[in-house]
Formats: sequence, structure tokens, C-alpha cells
Amino acid sequence: MNQLLKSIVDVCYLCIKFDTMYDVIVIGSGPGGYVAAIRSAQLGMKTAIVEKYSTLGGTCLNVGCIPSKALLDSSEHYHNATHTFEKHGIEVKSPKVNLKQMMARKDEVISQTCDGVKFLMDKNKIDVHHGMGSFVDKNTVEILGADKKKTQIKGKNVIIATGSKPNYFPGMEPDKKRIITSTEALKLKEIPGKMLVIGAGVIGLELGSVYKRLGSQVEVIEFAKTILPTMDISIGKEYGKVLKKEGFKLHMEHRVQSVKNMGKKVIVTALNKKGEEVKIEGDYCLVAVGRKAFTEGLNLKSAGISSNDRGQIVVNEHLQSNIPNVYAIGDVVRGAMLAHKAEEEGVYAAEFIAGQKPHINHNLIPGVVYTWPEIAAVGKTEQELIADNIEFKSGSFPIRALGRARASMDINGMVKILADKTTDEILGVHMIAPRAADLIMEAVTAMEYRASAEDLARICHPHPTYTEAIKEAALSATEDRPLHI
Ligand code: FAD
Ligand code: NAI
Repeated sequence: MNQLLKSIVDVCYLCIKFDTMYDVIVIGSGPGGYVAAIRSAQLGMKTAIVEKYSTLGGTCLNVGCIPSKALLDSSEHYHNATHTFEKHGIEVKSPKVNLKQMMARKDEVISQTCDGVKFLMDKNKIDVHHGMGSFVDKNTVEILGADKKKTQIKGKNVIIATGSKPNYFPGMEPDKKRIITSTEALKLKEIPGKMLVIGAGVIGLELGSVYKRLGSQVEVIEFAKTILPTMDISIGKEYGKVLKKEGFKLHMEHRVQSVKNMGKKVIVTALNKKGEEVKIEGDYCLVAVGRKAFTEGLNLKSAGISSNDRGQIVVNEHLQSNIPNVYAIGDVVRGAMLAHKAEEEGVYAAEFIAGQKPHINHNLIPGVVYTWPEIAAVGKTEQELIADNIEFKSGSFPIRALGRARASMDINGMVKILADKTTDEILGVHMIAPRAADLIMEAVTAMEYRASAEDLARICHPHPTYTEAIKEAALSATEDRPLHI
């Protein structure tokens, strides 16, 4: 009898084991992970996804791209209601912010978007396992559920897509109350009287803009000379003027040493460029000094997977780690920490596993800052071309010279095109413009097909649109022959 029972148990175990032998296990359900899972399933591979949180979608959907854009849009509507409606001839009696409702709408957008990912998992017959995933060996992932139960699944291939977390330096540890990261800034219960922001990068400017528009005083403390220091030099200079016009206070070339929560206030201590100590007081301090790869709890050692001193998983050009059946994508590997980069890498990894020969041009991943006007760029910056000794021509065109800009009262910004001095091939496009996030795709497409500035200049652009600034900048880069300036 005992033997019979044992045999039944063995058969059941084998069934479970067989059932959980996946072609691909994806750890992490952000834009990298869930897209990798969908593409794997589309290619006929039995796929599982493991997510430690109860909702799918990762940083991007839960505490990143989607909530920040929801608040940016809401706050921009308020800003227009209080600043531009009157000039347009629209009278609205004293608009007021209902922060609770604004946050509730944002939460609704998040939950609809996360539900959309759940729907896509079901549609593609992807098994979703909620719990913390960790390696037992290179083919086995253990999942620790919220109920503390452990289950193991096996896969021929594993794709790590565990993303990133906010970074901070010693002395500026977030307490998540007054010294906050982007995650807390996306759900504040009050509009700060004065918000301090450490870092004039993407998060600092986007979330700083949200609270500035809602009425906070915003002071940004940045150790570089210009804002958005990794973007083309012209962007930082030009956008710095826009921010000042909007009332931002910028403390450039200030290196933050420490932040202290004083109860109802915070105090930031920084060293200015002369080395003098400066103290700046505010109600909240948003620490936005970058993000770092997240691999905690993955137990990489058990599978022998290497990571570098920045905590990123080391991958080759096929996104393969040093263990050939283990891949890594998105924020957890080198390169831009962007949702669309993670998605492209997700597709790449799945197709490579399926034996295809996929392609990604990492030089053509556009970057966008969703302030107003928006900022967008693709390809090389002027500084990079100089550093690489590449001879180039530059052409730019101001947004204010467009009929469309005057019609909609959005006159700030410019488009700048950098092209090879000899071949005229477009090497970089940088812009500050209304809807630059969408406009940049013309440049990405042109550059993917290795177009010249002359090619862009000779394409008919609809009038009146902001796209005309791209044509004019291309004309200006080609032979300095813009038509409308
Ligand atoms: P993530 O989205 O970080 O997802 C990783 C997932 O893995 C998470 O769900 C995590 O819970 C899970 N996980 C981690 N470890 C484990 C484990 N051991 N077991 C199980 N699950 C695990 N990018 C843009 O392109 N556009 C934007 O507008 C934009 N806005 C942003 C705004 C903010 C405020 C922030 C913070 C980021 C923004 N980003 C934006 C960046 C973007 O969110 C990231 O680049 C993107 O989410 C990276 O995707 P990913 O799949 O690599 O990782
Ligand atoms: P970031 O790298 O964009 O900017 C950090 C800034 O902090 C830099 O300008 C840096 O010079 C400054 N800094 C660092 N240490 C400092 C110190 N001690 N004192 C003063 N300044 C200091 O990082 P951020 O804004 O935190 O964003 C992280 C990542 O999230 C971005 O790189 C981006 O990949 C992603 N993201 C993307 C968005 C988008 O695509 N629209 C929106 C938000 C985030």
C-alpha cells in the first residue's frame, strides 16, 4: 500500500514537474519582462512570468512612466486654466486643485493599465506566478509567495527583467516621509509649500514641474553646470531659461552633502562651486540622482551569473549573461533606463532564444522628458561628436517662428539637427517643442534609414504643424537655407 502511495506521489510530482518545464521563465513584469513574455509566447514557447508584487507592469506602470504622465497632464491642465485660458478668451472662475481627485484619477489610470497587462498575459496563455523569484540553479527558479509558500519552476531559458530602484548617496537616504523618492512624490497627500529637488535630471524636472504647476515653490539643486547634463548642451541652456521663466529656482554647480528631516521641514546642505557650504530649507526634498539596477534576492550566485560593480547583470550583444541560457534585459543591464529600450530588448531576447536573428540599434533609442514643452532627442549630442572627433554641421530652428506655435501660444523651444560634415547623414536630433515626444519619431525613422539632412529638408511637411521646425532645421543644417527665418 505504501509503495502504491509512493508511486502515485511520484507520478503527481512528475506531472507537476512536467507541467512547469517552461521554454522561457521571465523574472519581472515591467515593460521589459512582460513584452519578453508576450513575444516568447507568440513564438510558440511555453512561458511563465514571475512578479514579486501583486500587480503586473513593473516600475513603468505602477510608479514610473504612467503615473508621472498622468500627473503631468493633470497639472498642465490646471496650469493652462490659471495661466493661458484667459488670453485664449476663456473665462473660468478661480480654478482650484483637488489633489485627492487628481491622485485618484492617476490611480485609476495605473490600475486600468496594469489590468491590461494581466489581460495580455491571459490572452497569450502565459502562466503568471506572484512572488519573489530567486535562482536555485540555472534552470530552476524558486518563488516565495506572499503567504510564505515556496514553489519551484523549471525553464530551459530564463530572462531576468528585474529593473531598477531609486539611487541615493550617503547623507541623502530617503526616509519616505519628507525626504522622498519619485515613488512617494507620485502620491503626496498635500501640495508642498516648497519642494527641494536634488538632481536636475529627468525625474527632477518632470516631478518638479508637476508640483510647480500645482503651486509649490520648487528649488532644484544640481552639481552639473547645466540641467539635463547628459543631453545635448543646447538643451540644458535653452530649457534652463524656460524653467527660470516658469519660476523654478536653480542652484547649479551645487553638490549636495546631506539632507536632514527636521520634523516639518527639511534642510539640504550643499557645497557650491567655490566650496562654500550652502543650506537650503524646504518642506519636502525629492532625491532624484539616478536609479540603480535591482538584483537583490535573485540569488545570482546559485546560478553562477555575473554582475558588475554597478550591480548590473553583465550581458553580451545578444543580451546573454555569462550563463548561456540566462538572459537579462532592461534597467538591470547597461544602457538607457527607459521603458521602450527594455521592451525592444524583451523582444530581442525572446526572438534570439527562438533561433531568430533580431536587431536593435541602441544608438537610436529616443529619450524624452515630458515637461512642457517636451524635450526629445535621438543619436549623438554635440559633445559626443566633438569627443569622437567627428566633423559635423549643425542647423537649428526656433519654435517661435512657426505659425502653429503662435496659433496655440506655445512658442518656447527649438529643433537642432547635427549632420556629418561630409556625407550629410543625420547623426543627432535634439528638440524642445510641444509634443516633441511624438515629433522625435520622424528623426528616429529618418536615422534608422540613414537619411541625410537634405532628405529631411526635401520631404513635404504639413502646414501649420510643429513638424515644420524639423524641415527648417534640416534646411538650416544642409546649406544654411531655412525658409521662414
Ligand atoms: P521594471 O519596470 O523596473 O520592472 C521590474 C519588475 O521586476 C518589477 O515589477 C519588480 O517588482 C520585479 N522584480 C524585481 N525583482 C524580482 C524578483 N526577484 N522576483 C520577481 N519579481 C521581481 N521610462 C520611459 O521610457 N518613459 C517614461 O516616461 C518614464 N518615466 C519614468 C518615471 C519615473 C518616475 C520613473 C521612476 C521611471 C520612468 N521611466 C520612464 C523609466 C522606466 O520606468 C524604466 O526604464 C522601465 O520600467 C524599466 O523596465 P524593466 O522591465 O527593465 O524594469
Ligand atoms: P538622472 O540621471 O536623469 O539625473 C540625476 C541628476 O542628479 C544628474 O543631473 C546629476 O548630475 C544629479 N546629481 C547626482 N548627484 C548629485 C548631488 N550629490 N548633488 C546634486 N546633484 C546631483 O536621474 P533621475 O532623474 O533620477 O532619473 C533616473 C532614470 O529614470 C533616468 O535616467 C531615466 O532613465 C529614467 N526616467 C525616464 C523618464 C523619461 O523617459 N521621461 C522619466 C523619469 C525617469
